[in-house]
Amino acid sequence: MKYQIKVNSAEETYDFAKKIAPELDGQTVLMNGNLGAGKTTFVKAVAEYYKCDEASSPTFTLMQHYKGNTNIFHFDLYRLKNIIELEQIGFFETIEDDGIKFVEWADLLNVKDTLEKYVEINIKHLGDNAREISVFEHYDTDF
Ligand SMILES: Nc1ncnc2c1ncn2[C@@H]1O[C@H](COP(=O)(O)OP(=O)(O)O)[C@@H](O)[C@H]1O
Ligand SMILES: [Mg+2]
Repeated sequence: MKYQIKVNSAEETYDFAKKIAPELDGQTVLMNGNLGAGKTTFVKAVAEYYKCDEASSPTFTLMQHYKGNTNIFHFDLYRLKNIIELEQIGFFETIEDDGIKFVEWADLLNVKDTLEKYVEINIKHLGDNAREISVFEHYDTDF
């Protein structure tokens, strides 16, 4: 899985997220991009595709679980200080589960260093409503 696309509205982000949603099932998806880039918007679109209950920003709960045609676990690491805190909220058990594990602000704690397999989604704010979305599946065979 590898995509790079420029979108010009939140609706286009929604459309793209729904298009690739079938490929994300089972994956741990590390999401990076500044505040307001559209990370949560992307997760909401995927949750809608899987007919999950309402997705919202998990900043104040650290993890949310949406149930539908798949399970979606939605983490936001913005307020976490270190990997130990991540361990304490059950992250490493949860990513072994089926379903999609979305991780906003994954780069803040270098989560990718702890994973053998993940999908990385980077959203770059290009100005106004324009964004560049890159999706890259990573599989570390030397892990
Ligand atoms: N192309 C776009 N893609 C995603 N969101 C967009 C886009 N253009 C404008 N927006 C708006 O930007 C905001 C993104 O917020 P959010 O998804 O919460 O970002 P993040 O989770 O990265 O902080 C929303 O208000 C959304 O409507
Ligand atoms: Mg967010």
